[in-house]
Amino acid sequence: MDKILQTGLSLGMSTTSGFHTGKPKPTESPSPPSTARSTRPTSALAAGPGATRARGATGRKSGRPCKPPDASSTTPASTLSTRPRPTATANPNGESERRIGKLVKGLPRDSYVIQTKWLGRAMDVKNYVHPSDAPYKTLKSSLERLELDYVDIYLVHGPTHPQSIKAVAEGLAKCAKEGLTRTVGVANYPNEKVLEMKAALAEHGIPLATNQVEFSILRRWPEVQGEIKACTVNGMDFQGYSAIANGRLTGKYTVENPPPKTYRFSSYPMEDIQETLAVLEKIAKARGKARASVALNYNISKGALPVVGIRNPEQARQAIDALGWRLSEEEMIELDRVSVEDTKTVFWQQG
Ligand SMILES: NC(=O)c1ccc[n+]([C@@H]2O[C@H](COP(=O)([O-])OP(=O)(O)OC[C@H]3O[C@@H](n4cnc5c(N)ncnc54)[C@H](OP(=O)(O)O)[C@@H]3O)[C@@H](O)[C@H]2O)c1
Repeated sequence: MDKILQTGLSLGMSTTSGFHTGKPKPTESPSPPSTARSTRPTSALAAGPGATRARGATGRKSGRPCKPPDASSTTPASTLSTRPRPTATANPNGESERRIGKLVKGLPRDSYVIQTKWLGRAMDVKNYVHPSDAPYKTLKSSLERLELDYVDIYLVHGPTHPQSIKAVAEGLAKCAKEGLTRTVGVANYPNEKVLEMKAALAEHGIPLATNQVEFSILRRWPEVQGEIKACTVNGMDFQGYSAIANGRLTGKYTVENPPPKTYRFSSYPMEDIQETLAVLEKIAKARGKARASVALNYNISKGALPVVGIRNPEQARQAIDALGWRLSEEEMIELDRVSVEDTKTVFWQQG
């Protein structure tokens, strides 16, 4: 079954199409009491290259310093989490990486954090010929496009790689040891595979830095299933992508003006999420904030590092406005009551 799915992915089949179009399943778990609320700094946010289907690039500088690569470093990933990160997710032709490379050209290397990904493709012969070298070779190409000597975080894009976790870990460890990346992580991994990868990397003396999974008010699955907690317990960052549900949590889309069909993450019919949007709007109005800022603050308050796709200066401003404050416990409970749990898929989102 896995092989068939991987072949589909390799042929360009959508990873998410059709999976989120059912009725949203409300989350039953209550808000944690305030004492158990996230201790994540209020200044954590990662900026992705617009939406995943929008192949533009964006990034922000940070005043916080960043150490040069150190292969022997066991610096916990959480030390990186207070800095904004441009994410240069590799699209098929690497255009995001080229654009981000141009964007940061000339800036001091310790003034920004770069994250990119490797996707194991079943139909890519190199993945089989060089099972452990595939992530290494791919990162070398990414660095050429970025015109950089190293990235800060290198992720495995999804758990659908044809190689074993041990083989992937070997490749990731080689990247870290040769200084091509400061830290390594995974995306869309369920807890058991996170732990397997952590153990496999530990054999090479390399820590696992992060797990990146879809997380928002419209997808609390990783919170309910314990993926966020597992990251905290294991000294890792939990990154939550599609943090505003492809724009659905911003007020720009309505029943009359739904998002394009290609905006596939948490793609519930707008009719089905009206109650959620009404509560979000009420809290945003009371706070004098944009709905996007409140939605992102919700994620931060849950212990996630939101990865948000930004396409223009106003969207960047609203993302930044999610920082430096916290929703109250009452507001979190209100949002939890209208939140959606969602589920996982074997195709892609196992976490
Ligand atoms: N690991 C994975 O499998 C995976 C999967 C998906 C995404 N990601 C990562 O997560 C990043 C973000 O995810 P995403 O782009 O899918 O989802 P997102 O952040 O939930 O949505 C971003 C989109 O919402 C709109 N938007 C952003 N800020 C807004 C604001 N303040 N007001 C109104 N609209 C706003 C923009 O699109 P429009 O202006 O076009 O409406 C933007 O492209 C990606 O760049 C990628 O790095 C990872």
